[in-house]
Amino acid sequence: MTLDWNSLSGLESQGIDEKAREILGLMTLQEKVKQLSGDVAFLSGKGPKLMLRYNYIPIPAGENKRLGIPPVAFTDGPRGIVMGSSTCFPVSMARGATWDPGLEERVGEVIGTEARAQGANYFGGVCINLLRHPAWGRAQESYGEDPVLLGAMGAALVRGVQSTGVMACAKHFALNSMENMRFKIDVTIDERALREIYLPHFKKCVDAGVASIMGAYNKVNGEQCCQHKHLLRDILKDEWNFQGFVISDFIFGVRDGIAAINGGLDIEMPFKMHMKPGNLLKAIKRCKITETLIDDSVLRILRQKLRFNLPDASNRFTRDKVACPEHEAVALEVARKSIVLLKNDGSLLPLAASANKNVAVIGRLAKAANIGDHGSSRVRPPHVITPWEGITANVKDSCIVSYHDGKNVASAVATARIADAAIIFAGMTWKNEGEYLMSSGGDRNVLSLSRATETLIESVAAANPRTIVVLEGGSAIITENWREHVPAILMAWYPGMEGGTAIAEVLFGNVNPSGRLPCVFPKTPDQLPFFDKHTRKITYDSYHGYRLMDKKGHEPAFSFGFGLGYTTFKFNNVVFGEELVHPGGIIDARVDVTNTGTITGEETVQTYVGCVNSAVDRPVKELKGFDKVVLEPAETRTVVIEVPASDLAYYDVVSRSWTVEPAKYQLFVGSSSSDKDLLATSFQVG
Ligand code: BGC
Repeated sequence: MTLDWNSLSGLESQGIDEKAREILGLMTLQEKVKQLSGDVAFLSGKGPKLMLRYNYIPIPAGENKRLGIPPVAFTDGPRGIVMGSSTCFPVSMARGATWDPGLEERVGEVIGTEARAQGANYFGGVCINLLRHPAWGRAQESYGEDPVLLGAMGAALVRGVQSTGVMACAKHFALNSMENMRFKIDVTIDERALREIYLPHFKKCVDAGVASIMGAYNKVNGEQCCQHKHLLRDILKDEWNFQGFVISDFIFGVRDGIAAINGGLDIEMPFKMHMKPGNLLKAIKRCKITETLIDDSVLRILRQKLRFNLPDASNRFTRDKVACPEHEAVALEVARKSIVLLKNDGSLLPLAASANKNVAVIGRLAKAANIGDHGSSRVRPPHVITPWEGITANVKDSCIVSYHDGKNVASAVATARIADAAIIFAGMTWKNEGEYLMSSGGDRNVLSLSRATETLIESVAAANPRTIVVLEGGSAIITENWREHVPAILMAWYPGMEGGTAIAEVLFGNVNPSGRLPCVFPKTPDQLPFFDKHTRKITYDSYHGYRLMDKKGHEPAFSFGFGLGYTTFKFNNVVFGEELVHPGGIIDARVDVTNTGTITGEETVQTYVGCVNSAVDRPVKELKGFDKVVLEPAETRTVVIEVPASDLAYYDVVSRSWTVEPAKYQLFVGSSSSDKDLLATSFQVG
């Protein structure tokens, strides 16, 4: 019998479960185990081509022609859809810098639409691994160093993608924050740091209804993540009540198919290898795995296939939607909001056309389509607006723009000297960071720019005091050698297909920059936790980024949450609803935010909380929430801050539960994690 799959759409959750069980009852054991690995043969047919021309078609798993069950059809991300020639957004780290989950949800809607338009029903690009150290090669694929920011942005992407009827997959579960040794590294971590720092953002995606989770390549406490009973069964499926299915990271995620099934994995991707039907059938016969576990995995897969069985009744997901003007406009909006103004002495920026008749643009990156790495997240958009194209289109005939590639420093200096302002483009490319591909990418060797680039910056700045540096890259860049010598610095990340337009708009004042750093920019590498790209063993704890800076009393170059604009804001009057909050209650406070400048601007109001005299070791403060406000000049808005007291809990390893301490807490509200940008008050939980 063949099911009429289209007629099974629109079921409610009870109906979905019943129907999934009914379909399971129709399946032979052979058919069931076939659901648990990718459909493509590794060494024949489309297998090799799929890897060489990665994801040129959706990657299928679990098609059953006899019963008419469609496959999950995978496409990768996160900076857009990897298939075809799709809209290329700024990378996730840039999107983290928008601190704007509403906008990220719209990114998700575009991504979901373009996935469906190209035949996929499953998006594997919700990457929410925590940036523990900025050298991590795949930093660009994630949203930053803080679990609250990661959770808010990841859940927003999930909601957006899934609103189009596409299943989303959050990855890589868990502790996947090093690249070169990703297949070999064993991360040691204690239960508290695991629960408090490395897992909350995954829980947020589960609570948002994510259809699927991808296990990581690395080991945690000696066990492969894709076979990890504690992570996959105890925490994800049992404690968090995750109803979706878990896939392996591709090819190398599973090492032992029996351990994987027992550990809680549901599908080995993308090929039939360790979990191929023959192996699983043998294992069932030998009582190494039970049929009950197989049934549970198949039910999980069927339930999501039924839940996301939403035929395109209104013809919304047509091919012409891929990289259509409306989608490119979203990419431009994100790029505008992701750029972080790090320094702007003497209000050098924005460059007024009247005072800048002659502008020198220096550095090869000015003319490069620098949109991110060349690994599994690579998107091939139909066009990329380079900074040079953006600048020349922006200024039109109002000023003369000259270009120098910066290779010959003396001649670049000569170009800069006669200009009214010099703009240097510098940073990272797919060659020095990204997914590790033997010939490119990988974890970064150094966190600063190359010595040659630093010399270029210093020499140009010495010749022209009106020098602006625009940085590109996937995470923090150390600027110590030259930061004090230039008046203005912008962080533009990998800004996507419309990035050049956005950069020009910020430089020339069409856009007031509002991006805020999603990770600390340190002064020196020794302000960071231990990192060795070649190590096979590492210990993670609760301290990295601003948590570590606070603990050690270090002053970073630019703090987490920091960013300037062309206007200024002032925070005043933190007032509590009640200063004594019940452990089951909500901390309710208000703060006045005023735009003290002369143009409209957008501020990110950040709330941190620290426990005073805790019974356990805790960070000085941790981000607990954030909000965005757009204010006209001189406008004041009262922003409401609400933090459930349960969010202040620590994980008690003895009772294996979350504990809200009755204690005194400090509430910090302001524009960055730096003390000087925060108002501090206190309240009591009890
Ligand atoms: C990456 C995943 C990716 C998968 C499929 C792996 O190498 O780690 O993020 O989704 O390949 O391309």
